Amino acid sequence: MRKETGQAIHLADYRPTPFVLERVDLTFELDPTETKVESRLIFHRREGTDPEAALVLDGDELTLSGLLLDQSELPPERYTVAPDRLEIRGLPAETPFEITVTTFINPSANTQLMGLYRTNGIYCTQCEAEGFRRITYFPDRPDVLAPYTVNIIADKAANPLLLSNGNFLGGAGFGPDKHFAAWFDPHPKPSYLFALVAGDLGVVEDTYTTLSGREVALKIYVEHGKEPRAAYAMDALKRSMQWDEEVFGREYDLDIFMIVAVSDFNMGAMENKGLNVFNDKYVLADPETATDADYANIEAIIAHEYFHNWTGNRITCRDWFQLCLKEGLTVYRDHEFSADQRSRAVKRIAEVRHLKQEQFAEDAGPLAHPVRPTAYREINNFYTATVYEKGSEVTRMIATILGRDGFKKGMDLYFERHDGDAATVEDFVKCFEDANGADLSQFSLWYHQAGTPVVTVAEAYDAPTRTYTLTLDQAIPATPGQPSKKPMHIPLALGLLGASGEELAPASVSGADFADGVLHLKESRQVVTFAGIGERPVLSINRSFSAPVNLSFPQAEADRAHLARHDGDLFSRWQAITDLALKDMLDGVRHLTEGRNAAASPALIEALIATARDGALEPAFRAQALALPSEADIARALGENSDPDANHAARRAVLHAVAEAGRADFEAIHAAMGLHEPYSPDASSAGRRALGNAALSYLALAEGDPARAARAFAEADNMTVQFHALSVLAHHFPDAAETRAALAAFEARFRDNALVMDKWFSVQATIPGEATLGRIEALMEHPLYNARNPNRVRSLIGAFSFQNATGFNRRDGAGYRLLAAQILDHDPRNPQLAARLLTAMRSWRMLEPTRGAEAEKALRSIQSTPALSRDVKDIVDRMLG
Ligand code: PHE
Ligand code: ZN
Repeated sequence: MRKETGQAIHLADYRPTPFVLERVDLTFELDPTETKVESRLIFHRREGTDPEAALVLDGDELTLSGLLLDQSELPPERYTVAPDRLEIRGLPAETPFEITVTTFINPSANTQLMGLYRTNGIYCTQCEAEGFRRITYFPDRPDVLAPYTVNIIADKAANPLLLSNGNFLGGAGFGPDKHFAAWFDPHPKPSYLFALVAGDLGVVEDTYTTLSGREVALKIYVEHGKEPRAAYAMDALKRSMQWDEEVFGREYDLDIFMIVAVSDFNMGAMENKGLNVFNDKYVLADPETATDADYANIEAIIAHEYFHNWTGNRITCRDWFQLCLKEGLTVYRDHEFSADQRSRAVKRIAEVRHLKQEQFAEDAGPLAHPVRPTAYREINNFYTATVYEKGSEVTRMIATILGRDGFKKGMDLYFERHDGDAATVEDFVKCFEDANGADLSQFSLWYHQAGTPVVTVAEAYDAPTRTYTLTLDQAIPATPGQPSKKPMHIPLALGLLGASGEELAPASVSGADFADGVLHLKESRQVVTFAGIGERPVLSINRSFSAPVNLSFPQAEADRAHLARHDGDLFSRWQAITDLALKDMLDGVRHLTEGRNAAASPALIEALIATARDGALEPAFRAQALALPSEADIARALGENSDPDANHAARRAVLHAVAEAGRADFEAIHAAMGLHEPYSPDASSAGRRALGNAALSYLALAEGDPARAARAFAEADNMTVQFHALSVLAHHFPDAAETRAALAAFEARFRDNALVMDKWFSVQATIPGEATLGRIEALMEHPLYNARNPNRVRSLIGAFSFQNATGFNRRDGAGYRLLAAQILDHDPRNPQLAARLLTAMRSWRMLEPTRGAEAEKALRSIQSTPALSRDVKDIVDRMLG
């Protein structure tokens, strides 16, 4: 049975529960189809609440098989029960009381992967956001915190491992074939952080000694035989623990920290207290099977989940509207960690690419919502790029505005004031205000107003008075439910460059606060004058992407070229190249529709090739520059009437022109970039491989021949180089014999490795052009395709819908129909997966009319299907709303 389409939940309706939960004592008797859960809950009535108020517990698809009050049977007139709710009346007004609830659940039949389910013979739970109510009736909301004792009883042979949160209390045999284990988590936590894992797994063990000298046991559990592939994750975990001590002063607080890798998981990973559960894709890596990007993701996600121990677990969210309180902040923390472990500028470029691709797209379409929403119908649909990535950007802006020390003071106060609390965004912001004597009231609009601000820049230089004037306007587009907006506080890092690239320091600045290179835009229009500027400067604005805004600034080509060469801010050098390229691509789209050719400007070619050759720059940076804007970047810049085929053709023409012009350089780079040196996952080795791989892509375009990529594929001794070569073959030469051979060889070699086979499916799903749809249909019949495994579904259907603009957006609408059929197929089993796949169409309103009409038809066909899950219904209604 599926959840019904519900009514919206509103932030304004928040009320604390009438009962306070003191303690939780759970006993699980695990069975593949009939697990018994006995839950003993001690409550007392909250002071000052109605002495008559009933206790209401949440459920989801539950049947009650026992209910006791202080160990005695409750008469039926004292309670009302339904699969989603248990209400108990006539409870003591003053004294604490104990409720014992017994339920039986079937983990094998749980295909939603929420609550207790089975994956590869393992018992595993997922409770965020509202999965605990699928295990037992419970006040399943994040502001109900309690210490938990968990007893697990299971068949010993099949489940040598019995894990839950907190510290291990003890275990023993239990009857002839069973055993039991008890865990106690002393830190009060909400139910969404509960976890239980049982089964037979291999383990990698290590220890970490904390700042204050306590030894913590570290364990990463993986399938037997995969232990060596968890070594990098363990290394990343130890570095995360140390970094959080050094940078945020946060120490780990239990005797043991465990990570379990599972192969069926709806999301990336989950920060359950002391027992993180991970999608195995973000744990397992070795050079032969994982790419540099996989290693970087593992490092980031291990860190992210670990950092949640303080930002999320010790201080949790009062309600789900506050999700960004833990997610935005924790993404910011993992970004800073990666920046410290790797190259800050390169990391920032990658973040901004991701932010624009995901969050800017979301913010510009029908699913736009504030970082801190005020209403939702299905909370699972709010684990979004806006909450996570924009939430992180908002935190970053606080750091920019208050400076490093001011930010640290605010964070320290937050930890001090709210440890053990279920807090709100307002609580968080107040700590920064109080610690700094600052007023962040206007700034807080970033949490409440959706939409990406557009900052329009106009400049004028007056030589006689040596003044440079900037006129800055801000406008925030209308978004669903928010037709008009107030001006925001936008911190713009900027610099003025002289003719030889030096920074020009103004004698004074008027018209805006300007300090430490940051201009604070607060009004809808500000005219800012820089005095004492002796030559016409070149403006470098929004350095390091200090604010998540779109700039409307038709900067002269020569100025962009100047920045590309000289800007002291590496991010801005990348931005300048990207701006040159995007302009060429947008011109190209126009020219192609007028029957003319698309091309690359000499300015772009020169800037890009100079950057590619510049041995003083990090290879990883050079690779980022060579990546150029994506087709999605072009579509977003157009904003409307987007024709994915034209975007693709224009982009390709620009890449082709660069490839021709830089052919000799790309050959030299490809040969020099150590593609054969022994593999190490560190950032600088990865950077050399990225640059070599980028060169190979350009060479494929210049040469029009698969030979070089086929050679690279055959000779590669690591997955980063091998998989890139395979992508070049598949994407540039899909029908070549070399490509067929490489795909077959890859499949033969890796058919037993699910994570590598995911790549094999994805690389084919992302081949540009309308023929790919036929491939998708054929691949869905492949013996290794598995509609029950979320990673596999995402690798084929997700990759096609999200990452293949030309293939998915076929003019005849067949791509949309395929996705719609997939949504309806998955929805009854796994609504979360279905709803997330559907967001691939979030930008449908930007399409040209023919495709737009086809997209709308497909969406309406979904919308009119009876018995949709609440998840899919919510998304489709908003998309069409
Ligand atoms: N809280 C997890 C994270 O960001 C994400 C998640 C949400 C996982 C919901 C599972 C379910 O770290
Ligand atoms: Zn998180």
